[in-house]
Amino acid sequence: MNRIKIIKNDITTLNVDAIVNAANRSLLGGGGVDGAIHRAAGPELLEACRQLKGCETGQVKITEGFQLPAKWVIHTVGPIWSNGLKDEAALLTSCYIECMSLAKEHGFKSIAFPAISCGVYHFPVNQAARIAVSTISDLLRSNDQLEVVYLCCFGDEVFEAYEKALDHCKL
Ligand code: APR
Repeated sequence: MNRIKIIKNDITTLNVDAIVNAANRSLLGGGGVDGAIHRAAGPELLEACRQLKGCETGQVKITEGFQLPAKWVIHTVGPIWSNGLKDEAALLTSCYIECMSLAKEHGFKSIAFPAISCGVYHFPVNQAARIAVSTISDLLRSNDQLEVVYLCCFGDEVFEAYEKALDHCKL
């Protein structure tokens, strides 16, 4: 569990092997963390994303980080909250599974996640935090290359939710 670090920061500043982008299915940029990552990475990121031809919800695609300090960006598309009626929990879980699978495949030593779906997509923060922490901690058991996973929060509400989820996970 001690490889999971909950931090309050702007994910675009982190010098890690990969940061995860909470994108939309077009992969052509947007607001929130998606907009911040594209602004910081520069126009080459959008060009690279155009070649990827979109991404399904719960799935992932990877590009270089270009002008970001992070070497790679793993783009994933979280579910839009629909009152739990459209398999949102399973789809959010899939985002974390697929991101961690790519990290293992590439032998990454460090990765940072934003709170996927917890902004514009309105996923309930406490439930999303529990999904993130439990899925990542399960998968860390079978990945001894990944030295640190940052859960990079952008506000107090998400930070507290992640802290609570991690404490709960340790019990
Ligand atoms: N660093 C870290 N976290 C950030 C940053 C940042 N620079 N900017 C925003 N966040 C946080 C938000 O506060 C929220 O907790 O990322 C979390 C995810 O929120 P969104 O970025 O709104 O992403 P999401 O809810 O998954 O919605 C995705 O929003 O930006 C569009 O193109 C994106 O259509 C897609 C949708």
